[in-house]
Amino acid sequence: PESTGHWRPLVRFTPESNWMNDPNGLVHYRGEYHLFFQHNPHGIDHANMSWGHAVSTDLVHWRHLPVALRPDELGEIFSGSAVVDEHDTSGLFDGGSGIVAYYTSAGATQTQSLAYSADNGRTWTKYPGNPVVDNPGFADFRDPKVIRHEPTGTWVLLLAAGDRVLFYSSTDLLTWTRVGEFGADQGAHGGVWECPDLFELPVDSDERRRRWVLVVSINPGGPAGGSATQYFVGDFDGRVFVNDNTPDRVLWADHGADFYACQSWYGTPGRRLWLGWMSNWNYAPNTPTRPWRGTMTVPREVGLTGTESGPRLVQRPAREVELAHGRRRRWRGVLAGEAKVPRFRGKALDISADFEVLDGLPEFGFDVFLGPRHRTRVGYDARAQTLFVDRTDSGEVGISEDFPARHETSLSVSGARVRLRILLDHCGVEVFGDDGSVVLTDLVFPSEEDDGGRGFCSGGRVLAELEVRELRP
Ligand code: FRU
Repeated sequence: PESTGHWRPLVRFTPESNWMNDPNGLVHYRGEYHLFFQHNPHGIDHANMSWGHAVSTDLVHWRHLPVALRPDELGEIFSGSAVVDEHDTSGLFDGGSGIVAYYTSAGATQTQSLAYSADNGRTWTKYPGNPVVDNPGFADFRDPKVIRHEPTGTWVLLLAAGDRVLFYSSTDLLTWTRVGEFGADQGAHGGVWECPDLFELPVDSDERRRRWVLVVSINPGGPAGGSATQYFVGDFDGRVFVNDNTPDRVLWADHGADFYACQSWYGTPGRRLWLGWMSNWNYAPNTPTRPWRGTMTVPREVGLTGTESGPRLVQRPAREVELAHGRRRRWRGVLAGEAKVPRFRGKALDISADFEVLDGLPEFGFDVFLGPRHRTRVGYDARAQTLFVDRTDSGEVGISEDFPARHETSLSVSGARVRLRILLDHCGVEVFGDDGSVVLTDLVFPSEEDDGGRGFCSGGRVLAELEVRELRP
């Protein structure tokens, strides 16, 4: 099949070739951000699951490295995480330090294994005592995420087990004891739970008000169909997670169709960074890019902000994305009716826009990846108070029945002001509304010629102020 270079993102990570799904083993160690990922080194489909590997010093420029972990007699290498064993509590590093990676051995049953590296992740040794967590009889039992729980001085390993998250505890990173579980009667259960994560964050940067965030991917059952990422806010004592919200309260990290299996980096004190696989199990095997298949979102900084219903996640592109900024254009004016200004061009853009509704209850925003036959519409509907991405006519939409669709989420704004940040990068949009309090991530596959953009507004008038930055390689 021919190469489809016009869909290759500049800033978002893609493998050089072949299949990719979840981010794995995200760890910051000795100045490098490691990104491992679910990868088929031999083909464009989900098979031979291994951990691909790339490193970056700035989260924007990635260097491809050889495959880190390949299938063995215990099975394929499914998703997992990594931590830094700074003081050799595992005894694996001869008194030095190194990286310990945890993954699911996906064989006849799913068990958890570890591998370690004493040379900055360049070479890996599988632990002879694998698996380190046996399967007590769960059909789905995977995606170990290991975190450090400072208050108790312990390591905690989270697992997704069908409809719940299991917690294990350890002091030496090798022996794990099951200590708790969460979720069988909490949150969304339209599908199987996968890829848990857990971290503590200050609320509105106030270090005296801290809450824990438990993140769980779910497939299917997401708000835009298929797979998606939910989260819970609460307390965690190293063994038990207690939800601040009622069990039926479902919180989504992203309301688009393409933010899945996100994971946060270990080892970035002072900020929490994550990225997700920018796809959806509904159609991931049909996505048309060649010679690679699979894209990550940009790394995002995650925070908590207080709301009337309690602390909620906010996400923004990591500030390092600005390192890719090129030429800037600014525009200020009134959008109304068919005037369709401003216009811009480009398939890799970072757009920041402030809108103020002047009259009416208009629908407004931008058409991007715009060409003679296609557009992707990113907008705000002031009447319904929803932020939306409409990819119905975005280009190649036949990859699944539900691909051509409009995805939306409610966003109430104060003072008729709407603030949007939109990252376009060749095969998709990441839309951050209201300083990142709502996010919509959607893949699109426009035609090569679809490189235009313009504002739109119907049913009223808005004052728009925007800054369009080119993203450069
Ligand atoms: C999530 C997932 C994980 C699993 C991996 C296999 O997308 O299904 O649960 O470990 O992908 O590639």
